[in-house]
Amino acid sequence: KNICILLSGSGTNLQNIAECISRGEIQNAKINLVIADRDCYGLLRAENLGLNSILIKRGKTFTEDLVNAIPENTDLIILAGFLSILNESFFKEISIPIINIHPSLLPKFGGKGMWGNHVHEAVLKNKETESGASVHFVTEEIDAGNIILQKSVQISENETAETLAEKVHKIEYEIFPEAIKKIINFID
Ligand code: GRF
Repeated sequence: KNICILLSGSGTNLQNIAECISRGEIQNAKINLVIADRDCYGLLRAENLGLNSILIKRGKTFTEDLVNAIPENTDLIILAGFLSILNESFFKEISIPIINIHPSLLPKFGGKGMWGNHVHEAVLKNKETESGASVHFVTEEIDAGNIILQKSVQISENETAETLAEKVHKIEYEIFPEAIKKIINFID
C-alpha cells in the first residue's frame, strides 16, 4: 500500500514509520511521498531517508496544490505533525482514508489551538493525572474523527510540558505504527 505522509515539523514520527517499514514491522507498505507545508527538519529527514519529498507552501492555491501533489496511487494519507487544516474542498477531492496522531487522550485536549506544547500545558494546568496519544481518522472537524488507537502515560509530580512531550512522543512511536498496520490490513 502506498502511504503519503504530510508534516510540518521535526518528523520523528516519519522517521519511526520509515524505519518500521524497512525493518519489516509494517508490511505491504511504501511511503510514496512526503509533503511538507513549510521548510522544516522533517523535509531533511525525508531526503536522508531517500524518500520522495515536496514542499507546498501555504497560499491561495494551497488546497488545490496539495490535492494535485498527492500521487494517484496513494492508499492512505498520514498526518504526522501537519499543522495546516484540511478544508471542505480537500475532503471533496480526496476519498482515501486519512489518519492523524494527536498528543492527548482525545476527545480531551483536542481542537483548535491544541497542538505542540499547548496541549501539554493545558493538560498540566487542568491537573490531569494522565495524558497520552491518540491515532484517529481525520474528518473536517479538527481532532474529532473516530479513534483508532490510544495509549496513556502517567503524569508525575514534577512534570513539565517538555518532559510530558517526551513521554508522549515515546508512546506515539508505538501506537502510530500499530494503527498503520491495522489500517493497511483493512484496506484491500
Ligand atoms: C506529535 O507530537 C504529534 O502528536 C503531533 O505533532 C507531533 C509531531 O512530532 N500531531 P514529530 O514531528 O513527528 O516529531
